[in-house]
Amino acid sequence: MLKEKIKQLAKAYHQDTIAIRRHLHQHPELSYEEVETGKYIAAKLSEYQIEHQHGIAENGVVGLIKGKNPDKKVVALRGDIDALPILEVNDVDYKSRNEGVMHACGHDVHTSSLLGTARILHELRGEFEGTVKLLFQPAEEKAPGGASIMIREGALENPRPLAIFGQHVHPPLEVGKIGMRPGKYMASTDELFLTVYGKGGHGAIPQECIDPIAITAQIITALQQLVSRQGDPTIPSVLTFGYIASEGGTNNVIPNSVSLKGTFRTMDEPWRADAHRRMKKMAEGIAESMGARAEFTILNGYPYLINDDVLTAATRKYAVEFLGEENVVDLPIRMTGEDFAYYSQEMPACFYRLGTGNPAKGITSPIHTNTFNVDENCLELSTGLMAWLAVRELEE
Ligand code: NI
Repeated sequence: MLKEKIKQLAKAYHQDTIAIRRHLHQHPELSYEEVETGKYIAAKLSEYQIEHQHGIAENGVVGLIKGKNPDKKVVALRGDIDALPILEVNDVDYKSRNEGVMHACGHDVHTSSLLGTARILHELRGEFEGTVKLLFQPAEEKAPGGASIMIREGALENPRPLAIFGQHVHPPLEVGKIGMRPGKYMASTDELFLTVYGKGGHGAIPQECIDPIAITAQIITALQQLVSRQGDPTIPSVLTFGYIASEGGTNNVIPNSVSLKGTFRTMDEPWRADAHRRMKKMAEGIAESMGARAEFTILNGYPYLINDDVLTAATRKYAVEFLGEENVVDLPIRMTGEDFAYYSQEMPACFYRLGTGNPAKGITSPIHTNTFNVDENCLELSTGLMAWLAVRELEE
């Protein structure tokens, strides 16, 4: 039975997959700089004799595994390959050797896992119909996002997949389990940059100044009502300012200007555009009414990620077949972002979470922290599961 063969191969390749993960973990590369990582992936695919093309979106690699009757149907599997500018403090022998760069978001797991899956599917290519497309995607962590570039460069064409799967490590979920959610799942992410220009002067003579701090305080308070008073309460939205600084200014000096940086996240494209217009109008109007001037720049990040209802229900069913009902959990909405969202705007997509935590072993650190790590047993499950999802979806 195919499921048992997949499980046997995932087990047989497990140590190799761990070795690949550790190699990638030791040699992390930042977004848009994944030169060696791309070469390494291409070399592994060559070793496995899997047809592939290197150099999509600079460092991306696209592979093809053709089963019997390869034109019948195509499904795509995506793994992101980039790392973060974080100094690793884990005391492990496979610690990052590229100081200040760390696979702190588990993309080393996603990449090694997809290589393991590819090896399994290639080995079993005589036992399923259709084609599996492999997308090793760079630059997930940084706008505009490698996914958008891969798509622009044709990674979803020739052949065009009918569905795409992606996974992400999830420390809150224990190793051995996976989780997912149908429908809207992750948020669009936009970066906000606001500067309020007033007129500085002596703190004791405010009447001769235009105090940008007092004006900025009004703007922040007003903007917070965008979500609570103007947005549809059924659409998840969040607005956060995480940075505020004045240019000059001290106890007795009113500064000339104040700058803010923030993020706006939501799950509805018309509301996203409307919110941008409203935020600008509010900030500019308040500043103007008080004699100051506001400059509001909004950089669009990723769109929101939607898990196709039909594909996600099917994925859940396949996952239960592979792991058992008790190991497939339903997850809540997240307001974090992911450039897999771009694929989800193009075709039925399912992005699920891979349990990687293990409190008994002390593996609990969240992603994007300098102590993040995974229970590597997750790799046996993830390589097999993704192969199973691909062959089951090809059968449907
Ligand atoms: Ni990530």
